[in-house]
Amino acid sequence: MSFPKNFTWGVATAAYQIEGAPYKTGGGKSIWDMYCARPGVTFEGNNADIACDHYNRFKEDVALMKDLGVQGYRFSIAWPRVLPSGTGKVSAEGLGFYDKLVDELIGAGIEPYITLFHWDYPYDLYCKGGWLNRDSIDWFSDYTKIVVERLSDRVSHWITLNEPQCFITFGHDTGGHAPGGKLDKKDVLKAGHHALLAHGRAVKTIRAYAKKSPMISWAPCGGVSIPVSESPEDIEAARKSTIESEFNSLWMEPVYKGAYPEKILKSYGEDALEIGPGDMEEISQPLDFFGVNTYNGHFVKAGKNGVPEAVKFPSGFPRTSFQWPVAPECLYWGPKFFYERYGKPIYITENGMANTDWIALDGTVKDPQRIDFLDRYIGQLKRASEAGINIGGYFQWSLMDNFEWAEGYKMRFGLVYIDYPTQRRIPKSSAYWYSKVIESNGETLTPLSDKAMP
Ligand code: GCO
Repeated sequence: MSFPKNFTWGVATAAYQIEGAPYKTGGGKSIWDMYCARPGVTFEGNNADIACDHYNRFKEDVALMKDLGVQGYRFSIAWPRVLPSGTGKVSAEGLGFYDKLVDELIGAGIEPYITLFHWDYPYDLYCKGGWLNRDSIDWFSDYTKIVVERLSDRVSHWITLNEPQCFITFGHDTGGHAPGGKLDKKDVLKAGHHALLAHGRAVKTIRAYAKKSPMISWAPCGGVSIPVSESPEDIEAARKSTIESEFNSLWMEPVYKGAYPEKILKSYGEDALEIGPGDMEEISQPLDFFGVNTYNGHFVKAGKNGVPEAVKFPSGFPRTSFQWPVAPECLYWGPKFFYERYGKPIYITENGMANTDWIALDGTVKDPQRIDFLDRYIGQLKRASEAGINIGGYFQWSLMDNFEWAEGYKMRFGLVYIDYPTQRRIPKSSAYWYSKVIESNGETLTPLSDKAMP
């Protein structure tokens, strides 16, 4: 058995991480341009003014995807490139860029999957309160309408928000991401609530204005608890830990079930959310698939009375150059638990690894670590598919090395190496490996039984 015949093999990127900053080519500034200008917040003071120069090199990058046999391309639209001030005047050149990119993809037989918001919030709107301002719901809906009216005659796959856990929590609470504020708990929750409302309103806007029947989702982070054994007790503990974790449930439960988790809401006490009439109905607009970004998981076992207990990674457990654990079982247990709870086809909208790649003496870029990583992870996803879980697609993060936010260019996630000084693109050995996996619809993956743990 293998993946379904209509399974989508894709790659993913994000506008700010690859294009070159919109303000450099007629667009507006985003909060990440503001953030990168602050001393010491990004690795070596890196910024995304140029990044991978995708704005000028998109035809070459689409040709690369076509050569690799990529079937779907998940990319994001830079809100400040389309609307330099976030609202009001549309940039014909900015919107025109995405028009040309979509045409190039369609011409290459590659399905566009558009992410409407991947963290590059317009700076002018941030100055008006950003996600803290309930007007952000209308601002985001107006932007969505402009994009959908222009591109939905060719685009039918839409992803509203990328990882609200990151852009709200890291951006407004713990720090480390733009806009770099540290709001009090009540305001963090309010910003998160407005982001979820913006998601729901955008779903309604897409359905109202799409010319081609749309398939809509979003792309939250998916935190996965992996059972240390396959005993029923440990599996139940892992399910409970995955579904009830605040990291997942504070976001997924409102969107798919129309209510915040009661226990978590109560835990906020006087910081509790002010939920307006109709808010939960707006947030929980029906979605067509369950998009989720998953890179790893952590192990749990059933403790006393089945209460989930975390199990520490043994010393020296394999980790990527980002120090993320290599835990491929997250792509079996995560889809299993999320499918059982939410019942929507699962699309892995991001998965991949950072690796210390470089150009070898023979001019190639060899990345056996990434090949082994992907072989294990996609092998677990195949196990989920063969177990009857509806898996619709997999998007490798990332097509190319790119600006990894606060880590700048230190982390290389790409299937394609970017030599930044020359902007040369060099497909790594993992790109050619992935191409064969796509061509065989997963048949060339190493059978799971042959795989020792890393
Ligand atoms: C995320 C973002 C991406 C990251 C990638 C590697 O999930 O954090 O969607 O922009 O670059 O995940 O961290």
